[in-house]
Amino acid sequence: MRPIFDEKNPLIEIKHLQKVFGTKEVLKDVNLIFPKGSTTVILGLSGGGKSTIIKHIVGLMKPTNGNIHVDGTDISNCSEEELRAVRKNIGYLFQDGAMFDSMNIFDNVAFPLREHRKDLSEKEIEELVLKMLSMTGLDAKRVAKLAPNELSGGMRKRAGLARAIIMEPKIILYDEPTSGLDPITSDLITQLILKLQKELGVTSVLITHDMKESFKSADYLAFLFEGEIIEWADNESFKNSKNPYVQQFLDGSGVGPIQFNG
Ligand SMILES: Nc1ncnc2c1ncn2[C@@H]1O[C@H](COP(=O)(O)OP(=O)(O)OP(=O)(O)O)[C@@H](O)[C@H]1O
Ligand SMILES: [Mg+2]
Repeated sequence: MRPIFDEKNPLIEIKHLQKVFGTKEVLKDVNLIFPKGSTTVILGLSGGGKSTIIKHIVGLMKPTNGNIHVDGTDISNCSEEELRAVRKNIGYLFQDGAMFDSMNIFDNVAFPLREHRKDLSEKEIEELVLKMLSMTGLDAKRVAKLAPNELSGGMRKRAGLARAIIMEPKIILYDEPTSGLDPITSDLITQLILKLQKELGVTSVLITHDMKESFKSADYLAFLFEGEIIEWADNESFKNSKNPYVQQFLDGSGVGPIQFNG
């Protein structure tokens, strides 16, 4: 049975989000809610603007038009101080697993704690960093000493995940957490995402092209097409969507209303 979420009081709400880069209107009118404690998967074509949506949720991008409310704060229209307070509760796994190149993995993962948890001792920080690295399936002690460029793409992604969850945030944004990983490690990450949701009540936003992972993780799925969310439904209803665009996407078919020019 699907848990029941409070859809009337979402933790995150995107209203009429428009984003224009130069002359390119990437997001036209995105409207989307994320109920507290739920996992929402955002699906859509490559280059369609999925990463752009989550960069707005964490306040890394400002909308051309529209608003984003996170936990009661209008982050498109608030002070730097308020934005910092909101960000403290958000974990963000970047699509490329971005790390500070000048720091080793230990210091990268410890970074949010050193910024926000001045109450912790070095010993407590070390315990937490090693625990989080192990949770993502990495050989924690060995990997901690390495520089980001000494890790494979998949390892970097897992270290990025350790950093995203180390503050036990209320909200976690995962931008393609399993792309480029083998199927077993992918499943480990998917299970970890589910565990965080169940045990910590985390509200998650997940971007992925992996349909198996999507249906395993999602309470809701949203389909972004030509700058708008053209379908939003719970897991079961989405699978059975009658929307021809969604059907074509789920079938992975070159034939249908979605036209490819390239
Ligand atoms: N900072 C930026 N400046 C200019 N254009 C940008 C910027 N960020 C994104 N874009 C453009 O916005 C469009 C959407 O990019 P985005 O990364 O959000 O897509 P995506 O749906 O995440 O794609 P993918 O599935 O390939 O990761 C692209 O055309 C991209 O070139
Ligand atoms: Mg992207």
